[in-house]
Amino acid sequence: MPRILQNGPLAPWLETALARDHEVVALHKQPDREAFLAAEGASFEGLATSARVGADRALLQALPKLRVISSFGVGYDALDLACVRERGIAVGYTPDVLNDCVADTAFGLVMDVARGFSAADRFVRRGDWLRGQFPLTTKVSGKRLGILGLGRIGRVVAKRAGGFDMEVRYHNRRALADVPYGYEPTPQSLARWADFLVVISAGGAGTRHLVDAAVLDALGPQGFLVNVSRGTVIDQDALVEALRTRAIAGAGLDVYEDEPKVPPALYDLDNVVLLPHVASATNETRRAMAELVLRNLNTFFATGTVPVAVPTNA
Ligand code: NAP
Ligand code: 8YV
Repeated sequence: MPRILQNGPLAPWLETALARDHEVVALHKQPDREAFLAAEGASFEGLATSARVGADRALLQALPKLRVISSFGVGYDALDLACVRERGIAVGYTPDVLNDCVADTAFGLVMDVARGFSAADRFVRRGDWLRGQFPLTTKVSGKRLGILGLGRIGRVVAKRAGGFDMEVRYHNRRALADVPYGYEPTPQSLARWADFLVVISAGGAGTRHLVDAAVLDALGPQGFLVNVSRGTVIDQDALVEALRTRAIAGAGLDVYEDEPKVPPALYDLDNVVLLPHVASATNETRRAMAELVLRNLNTFFATGTVPVAVPTNA
């Protein structure tokens, strides 16, 4: 039975299933991580991790016999892919099964920040309704939705927008031949055009601060930003400033630069909706992700191939 190292907590169902099929050791439960890796690192052939925790070069180097990584999540920005490629380690991940829930969350944030549902809920709970009316908000249906990152999830966001009679445009590094949506050549031109800018590109070094002060300026005081991608895609200091000064109308955020830390300056602002990275966090989707993590790992040990693998050119 191959030994599997688990890096960080995983869904309880997945932890049970992994332990049923493999000998699993949880690295995050070791009292002395470095001593443990020095003593036992060479005994592990598999690594089970998550998009959130990933695996850095130091960890991978401490696992010289590692053959396969199975990650819970679609983003691989927390994995040292360069090291993985040098070593020829196979990597499984969980795309597509979470598209619906992440797109639903993006749309939930669009609705919430524009219509002020979370702020209105706080208004009722505070008893403010007894003293007056909640202020008027912004209509969503029929408006312009810009998608930064029209990939697997972005395409589902675009489909949701159709139900709200919204016009959709997008920006990727390359224009797509198979979509009916307009292409904008830069994040800035997309922001200038859009009423709502939904960020759902990949994370990592290539997209760091793709949304900077200039993009926020282009979105303008009537524009709303929604981020369900990675906190690093947005210059968070510039975003806090834009929200504080009302240089943009509002933002809906599921992700942040240094999770779980959220800039305290945002706590008192009613033009921002703050979620704790829950876009894929439904029972149904997390179960589907967990099943795929298990399938990727088990199939690798049975056949030498990972069925749903991170592309080798990623
Ligand atoms: P995907 O299919 O690979 O789509 C990624 C998109 O990003 C592609 O359209 C890609 O287009 C675009 N992109 C990459 N680099 C870019 C750049 N420099 N400038 C502009 N566009 C760029 O991935 P997905 O499955 O839709 O997932 C997208 C991301 O969502 C994941 O990587 C993850 O970080 C995040 N996510 C978050 C949650 C959450 O819980 N909040 C859940 C799931 C996923 P081009 O390659 O043509 O540029
Ligand atoms: C995960 C995510 O919830 O898939 C991703 O990339 O960000 C989320 O779906 C989370 O990262 C699990 O570790």
